[in-house]
Amino acid sequence: MRTQVVIIGAGPAGLLLGQMLHRQGIEAVILEQRSPDYVLGRIRAGVLEHGSRVALNEAGAGQRMEAEGQEHHGVELSFEGSRHRFDFNALVGRSVMVYGQTEVTRDLMAARAAWGGRSVYEAEDVTPLDFDGARPRVTYRHGGVTHEIGCDIIAGCDGFHGVSRRSVPEAAISLFERVYPFGWLGVLVDKPPVAPELIYVSHPRGFALCSMRSATRSRYYVQCEASEDVANWSDERFWDELRLRLDPDTAAGLETGPSIEKSIAPLRSFVAEPMRFGRLFLAGDAAHIVPPTGAKGLNLAVSDVTYLSAALGEFFRERSSAGIDDYSRRALARVWKAERFSWWMTTMMHRFPEATGFERRLQRAEFEHLAGSRAAAQVLAENYTGLAM
Ligand code: APR
Ligand code: PHB
Repeated sequence: MRTQVVIIGAGPAGLLLGQMLHRQGIEAVILEQRSPDYVLGRIRAGVLEHGSRVALNEAGAGQRMEAEGQEHHGVELSFEGSRHRFDFNALVGRSVMVYGQTEVTRDLMAARAAWGGRSVYEAEDVTPLDFDGARPRVTYRHGGVTHEIGCDIIAGCDGFHGVSRRSVPEAAISLFERVYPFGWLGVLVDKPPVAPELIYVSHPRGFALCSMRSATRSRYYVQCEASEDVANWSDERFWDELRLRLDPDTAAGLETGPSIEKSIAPLRSFVAEPMRFGRLFLAGDAAHIVPPTGAKGLNLAVSDVTYLSAALGEFFRERSSAGIDDYSRRALARVWKAERFSWWMTTMMHRFPEATGFERRLQRAEFEHLAGSRAAAQVLAENYTGLAM
């Protein structure tokens, strides 16, 4: 079999790339190791930057997001009981769309199925080969049969644990990483959100976040030990801890109920450079990871594939390699800005085990500067709603 692009991974990056390529008449086959239900079962953040909202609409997969998503015009930071709202419209004239990543993935899967895009789910041992030459190929096993697809381009959209990055010779890739000494214990509950907008909380007991999926489904997090076992956290213990970290008014308004999902996520910053190796291109979590504090993971996947899709359009339509030759530089420039913002928000809002009084006072000074300076608040709002693509 032969195609123009093989996309490894049917998460947001792979599916959106497939949609963007299709709209340019470029043929792509998606190979995904898991089943559709497994992919849809992942609980992930869903704060879409302005640019991501535009990209999904332009890709023809934004209708339900516009109908069911919640447009947010601000966010609150709470620091040791002091709350401050950042008004996105007043600060930068933009908003964000709150719409779960699961729903984004569902909409992209539906859009691909609607025009009959070829996707192979439960593809085993997907292996990118010969991408250092002009005739790359990908092998995989499905239903006990080994297949090979010849192609011009391989897009590694297979996430942090995928095969694509691992297929690159160690000497050809540089890895940059920071692992944080804590995790996020998250709970999904079918109760109305405690507030109309997200509240990021910094408290001496640790960070907390009040988020939502809809008007009837909420998502809450508390910072926990990196080594914590979710089995140690009953719903009751979680709600008690969350209340302790919220200001009294918010805590009083918290509606609790049985968790429908409960899990612990580690926090890390990670970047692989470059993001291009011959005819293999990395996009999304395959190339970088951000701590969830800045809600940048999904949005970076969108900007990566926006750049890659444009570059591949030039490559196939104009036989020009200018775009693909510049892809890594262009993508990494935006990745590192989002890495910086995510690291900065994480550093400001979390309780670090080794922190002294000096670091804690720096955190408070950071918050007070944000609350008291329009210029500082604009920097937060500009990054949170999304830097230009
Ligand atoms: N072969 C085929 N598919 C694979 C392989 C493999 N060897 N390894 C991983 N995959 C699939 C995974 O099953 C997953 O469906 O690749 C997909 C990668 O999707 P994501 O991990 O969601 O990554 P990405 O599409 O880049 O989206 C980034 O997802 O993890 C969140 O916070 C992150 O919001 C961000 C978004
Ligand atoms: C979420 O709703 O899961 C969420 C929102 C914002 C974040 C992280 C997670 O920064």
